[in-house]
Amino acid sequence: MTRFGVLISGSGTNLQSILDACAAGEIAGEVAVVISNRGEAFGLERARDAGVHALHVDPKAFPDAAAYNHAVREALDAHEVDYVVMAGYMKLLGAEVLEAYPMRVLNIHPALLPSFPGAHGIRDAFEYGVKVTGVTVHFANEAFDKGPIVAQEAVPIAEDDTPDTLEARIHKVEHRLYPAALAAVADGRVVVEGRKVRILSR
Ligand code: GRF
Repeated sequence: MTRFGVLISGSGTNLQSILDACAAGEIAGEVAVVISNRGEAFGLERARDAGVHALHVDPKAFPDAAAYNHAVREALDAHEVDYVVMAGYMKLLGAEVLEAYPMRVLNIHPALLPSFPGAHGIRDAFEYGVKVTGVTVHFANEAFDKGPIVAQEAVPIAEDDTPDTLEARIHKVEHRLYPAALAAVADGRVVVEGRKVRILSR
């Protein structure tokens, strides 16, 4: 069974979709630990409810970002994770983790990368006026929001969309796309060739 360590900062709806897919046997893997940089993240409760180790690693408890990231890495190592899954983790992941898990860190972004990177992908796409945005699952590397793309799905923006209605549709796609991508990862069906990622069919 592939072991995932999930990093969160907030509500954890993506985490929930991953927990549910693991429980349903749709992913041949399990969430070994959930780590949040914020103690009040509701995702920590979701983890506990699912019987998964939930840790708050508080950046303020460390002298600098390197020491904090080192602690995150130690927690991931201690739970023997195979892959690190960022699911609404709103902090820059340090080299201490990225170098320990090369091409083994995944992220989900609520826009079609390389368009609209950063913390406000949904709002930025909406305000730009694009007619199509979407969801991207990608490997994370030292180039922020620029790692090799694993999966993408387009979400059209309707004339009567508001940022809220768009956000709701994007989340719906996220909750399907991330578990599907992680299922492929867990099966060993994800082949990385430079920037190109191929997903082999089952
Ligand atoms: C998602 O939209 C994700 O793409 C972005 O942050 C949001 C997290 O939502 N990186 P949740 O915590 O999974 O509900």
